[in-house]
Amino acid sequence: MTDGPRIRPRRLRNTPAMRRLVAETRLHPAEFILPMFVREGVSEPVAISSMPGVVNHSLDSLRRAAVEAAAAGVGGLMLFGIPEHKDAIGSGATDENGILNVATRAIVAEVGDAIVVQTDLCLDEFTDHGHCGVLDAEGRVDNDASLVRYREMGLAQAAAGSHLLGLSGMMDGQVAAVRDALDVNGFPDTALLGYAAKYASAFYGPFREAVNSALQGDRRSYQLDPANRRQGAREVQLDVEEGADIVMVKPAMSYLDVLADAAATSPVPVWAYQVSGEYSMIEAAAANGWIDRRRAIEESLVGIRRAGAGAILTYWAVEAAGWLRS
Ligand code: PBG
Repeated sequence: MTDGPRIRPRRLRNTPAMRRLVAETRLHPAEFILPMFVREGVSEPVAISSMPGVVNHSLDSLRRAAVEAAAAGVGGLMLFGIPEHKDAIGSGATDENGILNVATRAIVAEVGDAIVVQTDLCLDEFTDHGHCGVLDAEGRVDNDASLVRYREMGLAQAAAGSHLLGLSGMMDGQVAAVRDALDVNGFPDTALLGYAAKYASAFYGPFREAVNSALQGDRRSYQLDPANRRQGAREVQLDVEEGADIVMVKPAMSYLDVLADAAATSPVPVWAYQVSGEYSMIEAAAANGWIDRRRAIEESLVGIRRAGAGAILTYWAVEAAGWLRS
């Protein structure tokens, strides 16, 4: 009997080949979804200063970028529209000639067979007050009046050909309301992604610049309090009961416990959104030479997958897909 430990877990870590063989989590391009911004009235892509490497697309550059993402094997696209004009009810969201609906038709025609085309179903990009719903006489976000708008927005997006509607507004009953509108109007096959556990997060900061948000105040009366794990689980359960085909946890990295809970209990796929602030933090630290950019990105994605995400919305979708192929 020699000295030293009998049990040596390092045996499984000694060589690259052994590490590869025992890895429990692998990334695949098909599990990445690329969020994309398309802006009305621009003919060239516009840089977003708080998200280096991400742009507000013109319709043409959006088309080209969608083709590139499909060629990279990315599994899906999530489209966000930025209208030239905003108003109190977010009229541009339900106008068939509104930027998001026009872009959806263009992208579905271009790459709709190769990739799942998804659309953000929320009013905040379209309202002049920047909230995710419409306001009542006292200026509060009116849940049930917002559901009426979501139904109309869902129909406009389904008519434009969106395959999967991303309900990100955090109104109570939104999944059931939009499911009903689709079913009674001849869109039973349009799928719903419930942003079930969406937290009121500081990590959405760069996104607000990206969509030229008009928001004053915050979203704490509808998005979840970061302190609450149980409420996240409850929202997931409710979205499933209301008919969500897929549920989401958002943001990702600060909510891996919520994600793991959802992954353990949900009967439908669970996705995670690695949001703008998560992207920009890594980009900023890497630009300063403080972290290894590629390793940090890959580690962040593996961590989100390991916690239970079936797919990840990430602004690095195309680049990370490229790394995986090479
Ligand atoms: C709402 C929406 C937001 C994000 C996606 N959908 C912003 C918010 O809730 O304030 C944030 C995404 C990101 O930060 O990358 N339509």
